Amino acid sequence: MRQLLRHPGFSSDQYKPGFPVLNPIPPKQDDASGLFIFMDGDAHSRLRRMLTAEFMIKNIRRIEPLIEETVIESLERMRGLGAPVDLMAEFALPVPSMTICHLLGVPYSDHDFFQHHSAVIMDRKSGPAEVEAALGALAGLLGDLVEAKRTEPTDDLLSRLVIERVVPGELRKDELVSLAMLLLVAGHETTANMIGLSALVLLQHPEHLAALRENPDLAPGMVEE
Ligand code: HEM
Repeated sequence: MRQLLRHPGFSSDQYKPGFPVLNPIPPKQDDASGLFIFMDGDAHSRLRRMLTAEFMIKNIRRIEPLIEETVIESLERMRGLGAPVDLMAEFALPVPSMTICHLLGVPYSDHDFFQHHSAVIMDRKSGPAEVEAALGALAGLLGDLVEAKRTEPTDDLLSRLVIERVVPGELRKDELVSLAMLLLVAGHETTANMIGLSALVLLQHPEHLAALRENPDLAPGMVEE
Protein backbone atom coordinates (compact mmCIF):
# COMPACT_ATOMS: atom_id res chain seq x y z
CA MET A 1 0.00 0.00 0.00
CA ARG A 2 2.80 2.43 0.94
CA GLN A 3 4.59 1.61 -2.31
CA LEU A 4 1.43 2.33 -4.25
CA LEU A 5 0.79 5.63 -2.47
CA ARG A 6 4.38 6.77 -3.10
CA HIS A 7 4.36 5.74 -6.76
CA PRO A 8 4.72 8.84 -9.01
CA GLY A 9 1.99 7.48 -11.28
CA PHE A 10 -0.47 7.57 -8.39
CA SER A 11 -1.88 11.07 -8.00
CA SER A 12 -4.33 13.06 -5.88
CA ASP A 13 -4.83 15.63 -8.64
CA GLN A 14 -8.41 15.24 -9.78
CA TYR A 15 -7.77 17.41 -12.83
CA LYS A 16 -5.36 14.83 -14.29
CA PRO A 17 -6.84 13.02 -17.28
CA GLY A 18 -8.45 9.74 -16.24
CA PHE A 19 -8.84 10.66 -12.55
CA PRO A 20 -11.85 8.67 -11.27
CA VAL A 21 -13.98 11.55 -9.92
CA LEU A 22 -17.23 10.68 -8.12
CA ASN A 23 -18.92 14.04 -8.73
CA PRO A 24 -18.66 16.28 -11.76
CA ILE A 25 -16.10 18.86 -10.68
CA PRO A 26 -16.10 22.61 -11.33
CA PRO A 27 -13.34 24.06 -13.54
CA LYS A 28 -9.98 24.50 -11.79
CA GLN A 29 -9.96 27.73 -9.79
CA ASP A 30 -7.04 29.82 -8.60
CA ASP A 31 -8.64 30.28 -5.20
CA ALA A 32 -8.64 26.52 -4.58
CA SER A 33 -4.91 26.83 -3.90
CA GLY A 34 -5.05 25.49 -0.33
CA LEU A 35 -6.97 22.29 -1.08
CA PHE A 36 -3.95 20.07 -0.44
CA ILE A 37 -6.10 16.92 -0.49
CA PHE A 38 -5.91 17.26 -4.29
CA MET A 39 -2.14 17.85 -4.40
CA ASP A 40 0.97 15.69 -4.70
CA GLY A 41 4.59 15.94 -3.58
CA ASP A 42 6.16 19.17 -2.30
CA ALA A 43 3.08 21.33 -2.91
CA HIS A 44 1.08 18.92 -0.74
CA SER A 45 3.75 18.63 2.01
CA ARG A 46 4.20 22.38 2.29
CA LEU A 47 0.56 22.92 3.31
CA ARG A 48 0.06 19.63 5.16
CA ARG A 49 3.07 20.40 7.40
CA MET A 50 1.46 23.66 8.53
CA LEU A 51 -1.25 21.59 10.22
CA THR A 52 0.91 18.89 11.81
CA ALA A 53 1.20 20.58 15.22
CA GLU A 54 -2.50 21.49 15.28
CA PHE A 55 -3.57 17.86 14.91
CA MET A 56 -1.06 16.35 17.33
CA ILE A 57 -2.79 14.28 19.95
CA LYS A 58 -1.80 16.59 22.81
CA ASN A 59 -3.46 19.52 21.07
CA ILE A 60 -6.58 17.58 20.19
CA ARG A 61 -6.79 16.52 23.85
CA ARG A 62 -7.16 20.21 24.73
CA ILE A 63 -10.55 20.31 23.04
CA GLU A 64 -11.71 17.01 24.53
CA PRO A 65 -13.74 18.72 27.31
CA LEU A 66 -15.52 20.82 24.68
CA ILE A 67 -16.33 17.73 22.61
CA GLU A 68 -17.69 15.99 25.71
CA GLU A 69 -19.79 19.02 26.55
CA THR A 70 -21.14 19.17 22.98
CA VAL A 71 -21.99 15.45 23.06
CA ILE A 72 -23.78 15.72 26.42
CA GLU A 73 -25.73 18.81 25.33
CA SER A 74 -26.82 17.12 22.10
CA LEU A 75 -27.89 13.98 23.98
CA GLU A 76 -29.88 16.07 26.45
CA ARG A 77 -31.57 17.92 23.60
CA MET A 78 -32.43 14.60 21.94
CA ARG A 79 -33.89 13.32 25.19
CA GLY A 80 -36.01 16.49 25.37
CA LEU A 81 -37.34 15.91 21.84
CA GLY A 82 -38.60 12.45 22.78
CA ALA A 83 -38.68 9.35 20.57
CA PRO A 84 -38.52 8.89 17.63
CA VAL A 85 -35.60 11.20 16.98
CA ASP A 86 -33.37 11.61 13.93
CA LEU A 87 -29.88 10.62 15.08
CA MET A 88 -28.20 12.16 12.01
CA ALA A 89 -29.94 15.55 12.20
CA GLU A 90 -29.89 15.92 15.97
CA PHE A 91 -26.56 14.36 16.88
CA ALA A 92 -24.30 12.93 14.18
CA LEU A 93 -24.16 16.09 12.01
CA PRO A 94 -24.11 18.84 14.67
CA VAL A 95 -21.43 17.30 16.94
CA PRO A 96 -18.56 17.15 14.39
CA SER A 97 -19.65 20.43 12.90
CA MET A 98 -19.57 22.23 16.26
CA THR A 99 -16.20 20.64 17.03
CA ILE A 100 -14.56 21.74 13.79
CA CYS A 101 -16.07 25.22 14.02
CA HIS A 102 -14.51 25.48 17.48
CA LEU A 103 -11.15 24.10 16.36
CA LEU A 104 -10.92 26.56 13.47
CA GLY A 105 -12.48 29.51 15.28
CA VAL A 106 -15.60 29.76 13.09
CA PRO A 107 -18.38 31.30 15.24
CA TYR A 108 -21.16 28.85 15.86
CA SER A 109 -23.64 31.49 14.68
CA ASP A 110 -22.31 30.82 11.15
CA HIS A 111 -22.88 27.14 11.59
CA ASP A 112 -26.20 26.76 9.69
CA PHE A 113 -24.74 28.62 6.75
CA PHE A 114 -21.68 26.38 6.80
CA GLN A 115 -23.64 23.16 7.26
CA HIS A 116 -25.95 23.97 4.34
CA HIS A 117 -23.15 24.76 1.85
CA SER A 118 -21.02 21.89 3.07
CA ALA A 119 -23.92 19.49 2.41
CA VAL A 120 -24.28 20.84 -1.15
CA ILE A 121 -20.55 20.29 -1.79
CA MET A 122 -20.68 16.71 -0.50
CA ASP A 123 -23.97 15.77 -2.20
CA ARG A 124 -23.36 13.53 -5.18
CA LYS A 125 -26.50 14.91 -6.78
CA SER A 126 -25.15 18.51 -6.82
CA GLY A 127 -24.14 19.79 -10.25
CA PRO A 128 -20.84 21.66 -10.92
CA ALA A 129 -22.56 25.09 -10.83
CA GLU A 130 -24.16 24.35 -7.46
CA VAL A 131 -20.87 23.11 -6.03
CA GLU A 132 -19.10 26.19 -7.36
CA ALA A 133 -21.70 28.51 -5.77
CA ALA A 134 -21.45 26.69 -2.42
CA LEU A 135 -17.64 26.87 -2.50
CA GLY A 136 -17.88 30.60 -3.27
CA ALA A 137 -20.26 31.20 -0.37
CA LEU A 138 -18.00 29.38 2.09
CA ALA A 139 -14.92 31.17 0.76
CA GLY A 140 -16.67 34.53 1.35
CA LEU A 141 -17.46 33.67 4.96
CA LEU A 142 -13.97 32.37 5.67
CA GLY A 143 -12.28 35.30 3.91
CA ASP A 144 -14.10 37.74 6.20
CA LEU A 145 -13.14 35.66 9.22
CA VAL A 146 -9.46 35.57 8.26
CA GLU A 147 -9.47 39.38 7.99
CA ALA A 148 -11.16 39.67 11.40
CA LYS A 149 -8.56 37.37 12.97
CA ARG A 150 -5.70 39.35 11.50
CA THR A 151 -6.71 42.33 13.64
CA GLU A 152 -8.17 40.43 16.59
CA PRO A 153 -6.58 36.97 16.85
CA THR A 154 -8.16 34.44 19.21
CA ASP A 155 -7.05 31.01 20.48
CA ASP A 156 -7.85 28.93 17.40
CA LEU A 157 -6.31 27.36 14.30
CA LEU A 158 -7.30 30.13 11.87
CA SER A 159 -5.85 32.86 14.10
CA ARG A 160 -2.59 30.94 14.55
CA LEU A 161 -2.21 30.36 10.81
CA VAL A 162 -2.96 34.03 10.07
CA ILE A 163 -0.42 35.30 12.60
CA GLU A 164 2.28 32.63 12.16
CA ARG A 165 2.05 32.02 8.40
CA VAL A 166 0.05 34.67 6.51
CA VAL A 167 1.52 37.74 8.21
CA PRO A 168 5.18 36.62 7.70
CA GLY A 169 4.35 35.85 4.02
CA GLU A 170 4.66 32.03 4.13
CA LEU A 171 1.02 31.46 3.22
CA ARG A 172 -1.31 33.52 1.07
CA LYS A 173 -4.70 34.55 2.36
CA ASP A 174 -6.52 32.71 -0.44
CA GLU A 175 -4.55 29.57 0.38
CA LEU A 176 -5.59 29.81 4.02
CA VAL A 177 -9.23 30.33 3.03
CA SER A 178 -9.35 27.18 0.89
CA LEU A 179 -7.33 25.22 3.45
CA ALA A 180 -9.91 26.16 6.11
CA MET A 181 -12.66 25.14 3.72
CA LEU A 182 -11.02 21.76 3.26
CA LEU A 183 -10.96 21.19 7.03
CA LEU A 184 -14.55 22.33 7.47
CA VAL A 185 -15.85 20.04 4.77
CA ALA A 186 -13.49 17.05 5.25
CA GLY A 187 -14.23 16.58 8.92
CA HIS A 188 -17.96 17.10 8.83
CA GLU A 189 -20.00 14.49 6.96
CA THR A 190 -17.20 11.90 7.20
CA THR A 191 -17.40 11.92 10.99
CA ALA A 192 -21.20 12.23 10.96
CA ASN A 193 -21.52 9.16 8.76
CA MET A 194 -19.10 7.28 10.97
CA ILE A 195 -21.33 8.03 13.99
CA GLY A 196 -24.50 7.02 12.12
CA LEU A 197 -22.99 3.82 10.74
CA SER A 198 -21.52 2.90 14.14
CA ALA A 199 -24.97 3.23 15.73
CA LEU A 200 -26.43 1.08 12.94
CA VAL A 201 -23.77 -1.63 13.39
CA LEU A 202 -24.48 -1.73 17.13
CA LEU A 203 -28.21 -2.04 16.53
CA GLN A 204 -27.57 -4.86 14.09
CA HIS A 205 -25.37 -6.61 16.68
CA PRO A 206 -27.28 -6.36 19.96
CA GLU A 207 -24.77 -8.64 21.74
CA HIS A 208 -22.00 -6.06 21.13
CA LEU A 209 -24.31 -3.22 22.15
CA ALA A 210 -25.12 -5.04 25.41
CA ALA A 211 -21.42 -5.70 26.09
CA LEU A 212 -20.58 -2.05 25.49
CA ARG A 213 -23.38 -0.83 27.76
CA GLU A 214 -22.12 -3.22 30.42
CA ASN A 215 -18.54 -2.04 30.03
CA PRO A 216 -18.03 1.34 28.31
CA ASP A 217 -14.23 0.81 28.54
CA LEU A 218 -14.64 -1.45 25.50
CA ALA A 219 -15.39 1.63 23.32
CA PRO A 220 -11.81 2.28 22.04
CA GLY A 221 -11.64 -1.29 20.70
CA MET A 222 -14.79 -0.65 18.68
CA VAL A 223 -13.32 2.11 16.55
CA GLU A 224 -10.39 1.57 14.27
CA GLU A 225 -8.90 4.95 13.39
C1 HEM B 1 -14.48 9.33 10.59
C2 HEM B 1 -14.13 10.48 10.09
C3 HEM B 1 -13.26 10.63 8.86
C4 HEM B 1 -13.10 9.82 7.79
C5 HEM B 1 -13.77 8.47 7.52
C6 HEM B 1 -12.14 10.46 6.91
C7 HEM B 1 -11.69 9.93 5.71
C8 HEM B 1 -10.68 10.47 4.95
C9 HEM B 1 -10.13 9.86 3.75
C10 HEM B 1 -10.57 8.53 3.16
C11 HEM B 1 -9.19 10.69 3.28
C12 HEM B 1 -8.32 10.48 2.04
C13 HEM B 1 -9.04 11.07 0.88
C14 HEM B 1 -8.25 11.06 -0.41
O1 HEM B 1 -7.03 11.17 -0.38
O2 HEM B 1 -8.89 11.00 -1.46
C15 HEM B 1 -9.13 11.84 4.16
C16 HEM B 1 -8.29 12.90 3.99
C17 HEM B 1 -8.33 14.04 4.76
N1 HEM B 1 -9.12 14.27 5.87
FE1 HEM B 1 -10.39 12.95 6.69
N2 HEM B 1 -11.76 11.66 7.46
C18 HEM B 1 -12.41 11.81 8.65
C19 HEM B 1 -12.34 12.88 9.51
C20 HEM B 1 -11.60 14.02 9.28
C21 HEM B 1 -11.56 15.18 10.16
C22 HEM B 1 -12.30 15.30 11.49
C23 HEM B 1 -10.76 16.11 9.56
C24 HEM B 1 -10.37 17.50 9.98
C25 HEM B 1 -10.92 18.23 10.88
C26 HEM B 1 -10.29 15.53 8.31
C27 HEM B 1 -9.45 16.13 7.42
C28 HEM B 1 -8.87 15.53 6.34
C29 HEM B 1 -7.86 16.17 5.50
C30 HEM B 1 -7.27 17.56 5.69
C31 HEM B 1 -7.52 15.24 4.51
C32 HEM B 1 -6.47 15.40 3.41
C33 HEM B 1 -5.17 14.82 3.89
C34 HEM B 1 -4.04 14.96 2.90
O3 HEM B 1 -4.28 15.04 1.68
O4 HEM B 1 -2.90 14.98 3.35
N3 HEM B 1 -10.83 14.26 8.18
N4 HEM B 1 -10.05 11.67 5.17
